Amino acid sequence: MSRILLIHSSVHGYTQKICEYLQRKLAEQDQQVTVTSLAEVPDLAEFDKVFIGASIRHGKHRPALYQFIETHLSALETKPSGFFSVSLVARKSHKNTPQTNSYMQQFLNQSIWQPKLLQVFGGNLNYQSYGAMDRNIIRFIMWLTKGPTDPTTKVEFTDWQKVDEFAVQMIKA
Ligand SMILES: Cc1cc2nc3c(=O)[nH]c(=O)nc-3n(C[C@H](O)[C@H](O)[C@H](O)COP(=O)(O)O)c2cc1C
Repeated sequence: MSRILLIHSSVHGYTQKICEYLQRKLAEQDQQVTVTSLAEVPDLAEFDKVFIGASIRHGKHRPALYQFIETHLSALETKPSGFFSVSLVARKSHKNTPQTNSYMQQFLNQSIWQPKLLQVFGGNLNYQSYGAMDRNIIRFIMWLTKGPTDPTTKVEFTDWQKVDEFAVQMIKA
């Protein structure tokens, strides 16, 4: 049994939801998983493996993600670790791998930590939960990229089977 720390950088709670799903899946395999936000990370020395999931907002992962990585680089590099990115762009079949997803490539260019285990997951779209300005911006982006523009749309673009496969890779890491 490994003690796994799963950290989320999440604005509206969806990346946290993916982390909690992974936690349940891994618990079924007798893995002890602690899920925490980037703002409340416990001592990394207490864990055998560390994974981070981060969402995209206005084209970027949050700056706090990179600050965390700089502060904890040696722990991240010496333990089995991995990273996943959550975005609406990743709903597209030609942008849903670490190699083809521009946000993952941006992460790898900016991050001094270069984890071996990487994945991208489609995020959620819930227009009613956004303020008017964000709703309009995202509707415009969806219109440009041929996604749903109906302001009542509430949809999860996550491929949960892919999340299951990531859980297996976390165990093997
Ligand atoms: C204000 C806002 C801006 C967003 N910007 C982008 C973006 O630039 N590109 C993208 O692919 N997804 C974008 N998204 C979609 C989020 O990445 C997606 O909803 C994700 O599931 C959010 O996860 P979180 O709740 O953990 O933050 C945006 C969402 C919001 C609410």
